[in-house]
Amino acid sequence: MKKAVYLFLVFVLLSVPAFAAEDIKLPAPEKSGGIGVLDAVASRQSAGDFEDTELTLEQLSTLLWVAGGVNRDNGKLTYPTASNIQDMIIFAFTKSGTYRYNPSEHSLTLIAEGDNRVLTGSQPFVAKAAVDLLYVQDASKWANTGRKVPPEAILNCGFAHAGLSMQGVYLYAASQGWGARTRMNFDRKGLTKLLGLTKNHNFTLMQCVGPKP
Ligand SMILES: Cc1cc2nc3c(=O)[nH]c(=O)nc-3n(C[C@H](O)[C@H](O)[C@H](O)COP(=O)(O)O)c2cc1C
Repeated sequence: MKKAVYLFLVFVLLSVPAFAAEDIKLPAPEKSGGIGVLDAVASRQSAGDFEDTELTLEQLSTLLWVAGGVNRDNGKLTYPTASNIQDMIIFAFTKSGTYRYNPSEHSLTLIAEGDNRVLTGSQPFVAKAAVDLLYVQDASKWANTGRKVPPEAILNCGFAHAGLSMQGVYLYAASQGWGARTRMNFDRKGLTKLLGLTKNHNFTLMQCVGPKP
């Protein structure tokens, strides 16, 4: 009997990480509203400061959908990618955790609990922005195509994909009266460790997004 109880406890304990690792399903994003696109283009700019706050799950959902969600039944994204390679991983850093965005499921995978925003840049406003988005290219997607593409061309596509996504975020931020700022300096060593990146992953750019003071 004692053995059965012991085995049961072992089973329960081993099961805990599986439950803890479950993805967070995001609510449906808003797909209409905001200001007109020309008004958003007219007011797009890089913000110099951010409020140290958190977005609601609904706001985070729409932000990530804009940044890189699926916008058509054929699984294609809100921004274009070369040959629809979809090689960009978007990581979201917030006050409460660091997450990987999964476009096809419109869900988040928790990478690390707690506030790691400081790893995403040394400028003081970085650790305050509601969300810091990190755009990392998964170059292994190119190896799987069997095409011979030079590494610099692959990296160029990574930066192009990040830029295309980021302009959408700039316009969404403008439509919400929030700030956004592209950035290129971050703690690559710390982020590689935290996110478990490999030599197949290429850092591109970061972007701070959220309400302004
Ligand atoms: C590729 C790229 C890298 C950038 N890196 C930084 C950065 O590391 N830190 C920063 O504060 N701003 C950075 N910026 C923001 C620019 O300074 C900003 O876009 C520029 O001053 C023009 O201002 P605007 O975006 O308001 O038009 C970057 C912008 C781009 C496009």
